[in-house]
Amino acid sequence: MKREEKELLYDFLETARCYLSDGAAARRAPPEFEDELDGPALAARMLSCFRCELSKNRANVVPGAGSASPLVMVIGEGPGADEDASGLPFVGKAGQLLDRMLGSIGVSRETNAFIANIVKCRPPHNRDPEPGEIECCLPWLEAQIALLSPVAILALGRVASHTLLGVSTPMGSLHGTFYEYRGIPLMPTYHPSAVLRDESLKRPAWEDLKAFRDRLAALSPAYRAAIEGK
Ligand code: URA
Repeated sequence: MKREEKELLYDFLETARCYLSDGAAARRAPPEFEDELDGPALAARMLSCFRCELSKNRANVVPGAGSASPLVMVIGEGPGADEDASGLPFVGKAGQLLDRMLGSIGVSRETNAFIANIVKCRPPHNRDPEPGEIECCLPWLEAQIALLSPVAILALGRVASHTLLGVSTPMGSLHGTFYEYRGIPLMPTYHPSAVLRDESLKRPAWEDLKAFRDRLAALSPAYRAAIEGK
């Protein structure tokens, strides 16, 4: 079977599986051919994904954006209205705060970070993505992480942290500590939208970022040299 036929067949089966799934289906590894795709090919396949209900009301799929060989992957929950309208992640108020926070530790989507979300299409009225929607969308993110192989991951908020770590610990206990996602150091921290809503989260979010910066500096001499030279 040709690769294109394999992809089409897989998409068909995956779409059917997602429609039939109650979201509790056992997690599985991303299929091999998604692993083999380069970034633009993977993004192109996401743009024609109709695996779940979120695809019906979207203006744009939001695959993610940033460096093609990132030091850091920053993972949020899902697109909001601004992201749905533009097709780009974190461009609204929360995104502007995120950019400022990342900038303060020498990380940016223009240079050394890739920014993505757990789900690639906007949940209506910004509700949490449902387990079945996450289940259908996660293979895209898993393939992105495998492809981009970041040195560290920053997970923003409850949905990203719980999904990637497979836990349901409240953010108050989870944030600021390093865990591992498939061998990659991952730190959960507060979502910038939560920080915008609740001023008291500003300080702990900043403390998290400083710890993230220090771990990155230990893992990457080039990053360390760049931030020390500032
Ligand atoms: N919130 C998210 O989780 N992701 C975005 O892309 C924008 C806002």
